[in-house]
Amino acid sequence: KVFDVVVVGSCMTDLVSKAPRLPKAGETIHGHKFFIGFGGKGANQCIQAARLGVKTAMVCKVGKDFFGDNYIQNFKDNGVHTEFVKQSSDAVTGAASITVDDAGENAIVIVAGANMLLGAEELQEALPAISHTKVLVCQLEISPQTSLQAMCMARDNKVKTIFNPAPAIPDLDPDFYRVSDVFCCNESEAELLTGSSVASVEEAHRAGQELLKRGCGSVIVTLGPQGCVVLKGGESTLKHVPAPEVTAVDTTGAGDSFIGALAFYMANHPHMPLEEMARRANLVAGVSVREIGTQTSFPYRRDLPNEYFQE
Ligand code: RIB
Ligand code: NA
Repeated sequence: KVFDVVVVGSCMTDLVSKAPRLPKAGETIHGHKFFIGFGGKGANQCIQAARLGVKTAMVCKVGKDFFGDNYIQNFKDNGVHTEFVKQSSDAVTGAASITVDDAGENAIVIVAGANMLLGAEELQEALPAISHTKVLVCQLEISPQTSLQAMCMARDNKVKTIFNPAPAIPDLDPDFYRVSDVFCCNESEAELLTGSSVASVEEAHRAGQELLKRGCGSVIVTLGPQGCVVLKGGESTLKHVPAPEVTAVDTTGAGDSFIGALAFYMANHPHMPLEEMARRANLVAGVSVREIGTQTSFPYRRDLPNEYFQE
């Protein structure tokens, strides 16, 4: 294989404000910190996988603007292959306005911009990468049809797929389940997709069983501080993976750190049990919540204990 992990997904410029609490509708409040960072779920996941030490490529679209130019440099700085990162003058680079409160909670508005112009033509160009990778990862910050097509292309070439239905949409094409080797969502996405409450390990297990029935190979439902549940097709036992105890400064992008790490383990340790991959991915994501920002807080291999990388 040419690559270990290929991500077909989004890039966003994150415009982050820290405030004591999230503003209410119609309200203006004073924040105490502002910064601009590299984000977008697709790129975040790709960067986390790359930082753990695998060969990655990103398939995405940014604007022909300052933010797009900077983003391409960011991929290069992180060792991500950029041949399939395209620039368009028809739309701006995607942007995310993020507010983070003192409890580490966040609220986000994304304007996808150029991300929505990634389509069949670009996928065709990227076929050599999509068909020659160990793992392909997709999310929902680009056009869902593009994500689905990329997953189908990967499947046709016996490439393992991870699908992260984020941000969740209520009318998700049922084909997504059938082409997902691992379907990985958080509690609120699981709620939206199943229509029932997902707040406890028990409820996550039930939601996971429902998602599994729709045709995916395995399901992971993440529960923040409660860890995650892992369900494999054909097995009925509940596997709950607890999360490490951490004091969260900023949980933005923690889910992306988890998915990126999961992709790393699937590519590098394909025979490891899925719950062990999830346990280690939880530890990696746990490091990311201790610092403000998304990619700025994602750990490199050198920051992590050696045992995270042993069989
Ligand atoms: O998952 C976190 C990401 O979601 C942020 O980086 C922001 O860009 C939004 O897309
Ligand atoms: Na963080």
